This record gives sequence, C-alpha cells and structure tokens, in this order.
Amino acid sequence: MPEANFDAAAADYDRESGLQQEIAAHLCQLLEIVAPPSLVLDVGCGTGGLCGQLLRRFPAAKFDLLDASPAMLAIAQARLRQLRPEASPQLFRSVDELPGERSYDLIVSSMALQWFDDLPGALVRLQRQLAPGCLLAFALPLDGSLAPFIDAFETCGLPYPGLRYPPAEALLRMLPPGSRCCTVGWTQKFPDTLAFVRHLHRLGAVRRDAPRLPSAELRRVCAAGDRMKIAGQIEIPWSIGFFQAPA
Ligand SMILES: C[S@@+](CC[C@H](N)C(=O)[O-])C[C@H]1O[C@@H](n2cnc3c(N)ncnc32)[C@H](O)[C@@H]1O
Repeated sequence: MPEANFDAAAADYDRESGLQQEIAAHLCQLLEIVAPPSLVLDVGCGTGGLCGQLLRRFPAAKFDLLDASPAMLAIAQARLRQLRPEASPQLFRSVDELPGERSYDLIVSSMALQWFDDLPGALVRLQRQLAPGCLLAFALPLDGSLAPFIDAFETCGLPYPGLRYPPAEALLRMLPPGSRCCTVGWTQKFPDTLAFVRHLHRLGAVRRDAPRLPSAELRRVCAAGDRMKIAGQIEIPWSIGFFQAPA
C-alpha cells in the first residue's frame, strides 16, 4: 500500500484534482507514438482520468489499470466502462502483480510514481512489461515543487513531513538511453497556507506514516507560509517532469 491516504480520499478525488487533470492532459498531448497502441497500462491510475483521455485518443486500445487503492481502482474501472461498456480491464494492485511478459505497447503514469517506495525498482519492473519498440511515459513532481511550503517548515525549525521530489537528472539515470524529459511549471493559488494543507488532505496526498503535526506547530508553519503571500494569496509552485522512455 502507498504511504498516502488515497483510498480514503477516492470519493472526493475528482473534485480536488484539477491540477492532476491538467497534468494528465498534458502528458496525453506530449506522447510521441508512431502506431496507436493496442494494450495500455495506467500505473497509479487513481480515478482513471488519464485513461479516459487516452481512450478518446486511442479508441481501439484496451486498457489495464494498476493502483494500490481498491477504492480508486473501482472508480477508474467504472469510468472506463461508462466510456466503453465492453471494456474489461485487468486490475492490478501493485507492480509485483504484473505478469512479467512484454505485453504492453504503452505504459503511462501521471502523478503517481513519486509515491512508490522503490521507484528505481518499479521503473525496471515497468520497462520489463513493455513490448519491443514501445513506450513508458510518466509525469511526476520534481525538486523545486512546493518550495515555499517546504521553506515554511524550515523557517520554523521543523522537519518537512511530505515527500522530497528528485531532480530530473536522477530520474533520467534510472531510465534507458534515449529517454527524454521536459519540465513544465504550474502555480496553484490558495487564500492561505491552511487552505493548501486542507486541499492536500482532501486529495489524500498526505503521508500516513508521517507523525501528526501538533496544532501549535501547524499554526506556526501556516503563519510562516502566510508571510510569503503575494497579492493576498499563497502561491504553490509545481515543477512537473514529463518523461518518455523507450523499451
Ligand atoms: C495523486 S494520485 C494520481 C492519480 C491519477 N494518475 C491522476 O493523475 O489523477 C496517485 C495514485 O497513485 C496510487 N499509488 C501510490 N502508491 C502506489 C503504489 N506503490 N502502487 C500502486 N499505486 C500507487 C495512489 O493510490 C493514487 O491513486
């Protein structure tokens, strides 16, 4: 299971995940594919937003879904069936359940791999599932993302309890030669730091293994974050890496 709380947040995820939906749309647009894929795997599919977009682009493809959260998988499966009633995706809860044959023409993942405990191992495992000449394409946050929020913890002398994101070069070193990355920035705006913290909780994007921050400390972090307001709002930057790796 992931360390985050996505299973509990699945019902609210579509309402909270505007940024994730934009990123999935961008990943879908960037795909450089010569022939339309016939079998696609979405890793960390969440509620299936990326699959839905890919289905419109590749109407003849069959989709399989992988997510550690049963609630997310159920919503993604329902979405797929709504878009295509005859869809019968194979469902996986972890990369370790994958069959090990080189069967997929396209493996995609949006805003999920950063949560994996063993990212290098997962990337090797996914590469092994790709048919020759096919593509692994994924998007995830890179270092620099959330910088003012992380700084607010440091200003208060507190350890940052969230994920630390890698630089693009570190990821490219885990991928085969010929892999590419492009980076795109997004900025989310919130009325204050507490509104951002609440958004992360509603999204499920909080580590379950992180110690709960006492409320006095949370207030200090929020006050430090709020001192960085720009025109009355806090701005949360995201630096998203879009990777395409050949088999
Ligand atoms: C932020 S959501 C992204 C969902 C979707 N791809 C999107 O773009 O909206 C991350 C998803 O990754 C899944 N996840 C996290 N760690 C995982 C793991 N180790 N194996 C499989 N799925 C995982 C979570 O359950 C969650 O649904």
